[in-house]
Amino acid sequence: MSHTASAPGKIILFGEHAVVYGRPALAIPVTQVHADVEVLDSARAGIWIHAPDVNLHAELNTLPSDHPLASVIHNFLFLFRVTPFPNLEIKISSTIPVASGLGSGAAVTVALTRALSAHLAHPMPDEEINAFAYEIEKLHHGTPSGIDNTVITYAMPVYFVKGQTIETFKVGTPFTIVIGDTGISAPTKESVGDVRKLWEADKTKWENVFDKVGEITEEARKNIESGKWELLGELMDQNHNLLQEMTVSSPELDRLVSTARSSGALGGKLSGGGRGGNMIALVNGNLAKSVAKSIREAGAKHVIITQVS
Ligand code: MEV
Repeated sequence: MSHTASAPGKIILFGEHAVVYGRPALAIPVTQVHADVEVLDSARAGIWIHAPDVNLHAELNTLPSDHPLASVIHNFLFLFRVTPFPNLEIKISSTIPVASGLGSGAAVTVALTRALSAHLAHPMPDEEINAFAYEIEKLHHGTPSGIDNTVITYAMPVYFVKGQTIETFKVGTPFTIVIGDTGISAPTKESVGDVRKLWEADKTKWENVFDKVGEITEEARKNIESGKWELLGELMDQNHNLLQEMTVSSPELDRLVSTARSSGALGGKLSGGGRGGNMIALVNGNLAKSVAKSIREAGAKHVIITQVS
């Protein structure tokens, strides 16, 4: 018997980093990339994990307990007091680039938890999957807001305020985003930690910056809901400037953002933790392909065109 589960990637449209400090953020799932997990009964002893993308073929107990995959499985078995451990083969694959701001870690956690829950007959509603994935995120990412596991668990557009609000939002008129990957892997934990140092050194200044980001996010939500998506370009530019001020952009991200703008995008910004990883640009649907081509020529390693609807 086997069970499978899948979880999408994500992008943050507005509000990353400030969301860690209680400001709202908007995120959407990106279904063009996904993590997939299959859990099967096994004839051999142990829980065998196969993740060919990262060249991993190992029995659970040979992995350090803080290994990201091992910690999901251990925590799951502990939560449901599963003893003795079942004999399993677990196959994990993902098309989401690692450490790129597309939520690869959270997507693997969500897909793995869902597949274990189905296979071991311990049903978990989405709220429980989300809470469990957040605990795992906290083990590996310092002080995450929880937005990544939330948008990935629910696989819907999300308006998120840490510890307070999880709402989906309506998209008045669908719009198109081009996502460009710098190819530089940049762990979110580090950029989040660096922003925390800035904040600790001058809380008044940074609270003020986070407030501005929060206002941009609120305005963006209104424009998305009322179908005035063209107005998001200017808001993305403003949000990117504030992220630059937080020191989480990079020359490569700035180059892709400015290339997108000069080739016709209405605006652009980095998305996620920054320092590397992905940027996004708002485009008129008919320009999507040419903007994608321009940012590829400017060095983007992967480009995705996605519709927000
Ligand atoms: C990462 O996708 C978004 C950040 O705001 C971190 C977080 O919210 O946990 C940078």
